[in-house]
Amino acid sequence: MSAAPGAGGAPPDFVRAPNQADRPEVYELENTAMDPSGLVLDALRELAPWRGRRLLDLGCGAGYWLPGYTAEAAEVVGVEPDPSLLPLAAARPGGARVLQGSAEHLPLPDASVDVVHARFAYFFPPGCDAGLAEVRRVLRPGGSLVVVDNDHRAGEFAELLAASPWAAYQGAAGATDAWWAQRGAVRREVMSSWDFQRRADLQAVLRLEFPPQVAGPWLAAHPGALSLSYGYVLFCVTA
Ligand SMILES: C[S@@+](CC[C@H](N)C(=O)[O-])C[C@H]1O[C@@H](n2cnc3c(N)ncnc32)[C@H](O)[C@@H]1O
Repeated sequence: MSAAPGAGGAPPDFVRAPNQADRPEVYELENTAMDPSGLVLDALRELAPWRGRRLLDLGCGAGYWLPGYTAEAAEVVGVEPDPSLLPLAAARPGGARVLQGSAEHLPLPDASVDVVHARFAYFFPPGCDAGLAEVRRVLRPGGSLVVVDNDHRAGEFAELLAASPWAAYQGAAGATDAWWAQRGAVRREVMSSWDFQRRADLQAVLRLEFPPQVAGPWLAAHPGALSLSYGYVLFCVTA
């Protein structure tokens, strides 16, 4: 679906992600610390296997997850609206094709991908029907969208989210669940963790994601901590 471009060729309805776009090097530390046992990846594979299939990573940001997907999928496409992140994603090893676009404006033909992942990107209901319709357009019959979201009910990360005014745009857990249920999604919870090698990295990531009045007290109450529990919710819709 075409659209009039915004700055840097970005789709006009794109909303810049301050964590990923302002500090890509700190967001890289966050991705590196995420889910060290691969429990989220295991759940994603169970919901919608991508070995030998064509996978779209929607809102791929700086492309952290692209090389892992290319190791298994027949073909990987990363779509990202932010012009500042596209070169970082394109520079990842593995040969994923990286294209500018958005959930609402995917530069792909009808029925051309088997699996779509959207990891902390665009799908923060309500207000996501345009993107869901566009994802359904590019999915082959029987293909699946899996959205990776924060669990706002379980884990230490959820407690930080509840205290943070910055998390308000992510919506209330009950309303998010209802939105996806109305659209026939399967819901899956995964309890995992953030595990950092260095305290300085944990501090930098907490200060990226949370305002000082939230990050500061948590760090003071957990001196020397290198990890925290982190709940995810996955939503899977099949075309
Ligand atoms: C928090 S970052 C996550 C990036 C990546 N998925 C990851 O996990 O490393 C959210 C991403 O969604 C992108 N984004 C913003 N608006 C979007 C839209 N309308 N459609 C698709 N992606 C969008 C942002 O530019 C950003 O790269």
